[in-house]
Amino acid sequence: MEFHYKDSACVSDDEIKALSSSLSSYIEHLREIAEHDTYDEPECSIFLPYDNDLYEQIIRAKEEKISSRLKYVVVVGIGGSNLGTKAVYDALKGHLETLNPNQFPKLLFADTTDPESISYLSNLLTTETKDFSEIVINIISKSGETLETIVNAEAILQHLKAKFGENIIHRIVITCGIDSPLWKSAKEQNITILGIPETVGGRFSVMSAVGLFPLSAIGFDIDKLRMGAQDMRKTCLNKEMSENPALLSATILFKQAKDGRTINTNFIFNPRLESLGKWYRQLLAESIGKNGIGLTPTVLIGSTDLHSVAQLHLDGPKDKVVTFISAKTDSNESVPNERIFPNIRIEVTGKKLSDIVSATLESTKEVYKKKKIPYTEVVLQNISESSLGAFLQFKMLEIMYLGKLFGVNAFDQPAVESYKTATIDRLKQE
Ligand code: PA5
Repeated sequence: MEFHYKDSACVSDDEIKALSSSLSSYIEHLREIAEHDTYDEPECSIFLPYDNDLYEQIIRAKEEKISSRLKYVVVVGIGGSNLGTKAVYDALKGHLETLNPNQFPKLLFADTTDPESISYLSNLLTTETKDFSEIVINIISKSGETLETIVNAEAILQHLKAKFGENIIHRIVITCGIDSPLWKSAKEQNITILGIPETVGGRFSVMSAVGLFPLSAIGFDIDKLRMGAQDMRKTCLNKEMSENPALLSATILFKQAKDGRTINTNFIFNPRLESLGKWYRQLLAESIGKNGIGLTPTVLIGSTDLHSVAQLHLDGPKDKVVTFISAKTDSNESVPNERIFPNIRIEVTGKKLSDIVSATLESTKEVYKKKKIPYTEVVLQNISESSLGAFLQFKMLEIMYLGKLFGVNAFDQPAVESYKTATIDRLKQE
């Protein structure tokens, strides 16, 4: 992964250096956590890619539940319990779902409670399968009692029970906090359980069973995902600021926010990575948005949103700091030399589509620079398990540094809890 910021971030090296120095004892602390590799501290998600017991547990669950007949793994979970999995899935396979609906096995996601979607999903599962071994229902909730997750699971399972009978229970895998209500109920009913360590928060949990089980169940190489994260952990615990992209990125975002640029746009020049942007949106918003401070994350897709939001970016309020994200691709798709409309846009004749995307990205950056809109740039080497694992780890460490700079606890979400309690209270009254 490449990280670029020089000449575009509009923060001087001296400023970055001063902010990085203020984090040196925190880097030391993270390095100690990494050395001991245990689940004692809120930052312990950095141990997950190294946890071989966890890896073996996932492989065992996979061997127990997954057969060659598998068609659908349904991820029932919301927020930190599904966004990371969806980010990796969409980048590697999910983006082709509409164009290639017959690719199996596939992940299906049930997050918000939308009655129509749940009906469609349940109908698909009951009509498009002959045998229940074609289905796994992975119910994921750290707290083990999130309203939407429990409601969706009950609704879907009711349909499956009607078709396949009581034995459908053997097609469930529960991923939840140890000793949570879901854990206890699953234990009583002898349902397969994968635990989430107490100290690993939802939005930092993609490398736990939360992400690893469903991704591995449908055939992705989770070892490569872990290795990508392991390598990036080493890089992002480097005390040398210029070698540490998470540290650089955090200090730049912090300085820009202090100067009034509190909107952070991930401008993603590859539609396959849109869900990755949404995963980061939650990570930044929920981790840093506290005590009246924070950055507002937005996700734009290049070049689609150049035709939608660029006007505002380039000519509206100067309150944005942009992260351009792209991936190197090797497709040979091109505009032919013998064209049907030879006189329109003659400059594209014979050009590869990937070169046209690159030209658009380079030109967009040039325009942003001229307009003095600060930006950094992340370039993935390719779109693979390993490069995605690296990106996820990079961003999780960036957020830990950013939380320290802002002086907020990046690992809790007290305001979210208040909406959950209010909804439960209302439902009790109805
Ligand atoms: O990051 C978080 O902690 C949240 O987004 C949670 O993941 C989300 O609220 C779902 O909670 P749970 O995993 O307990 O069902």
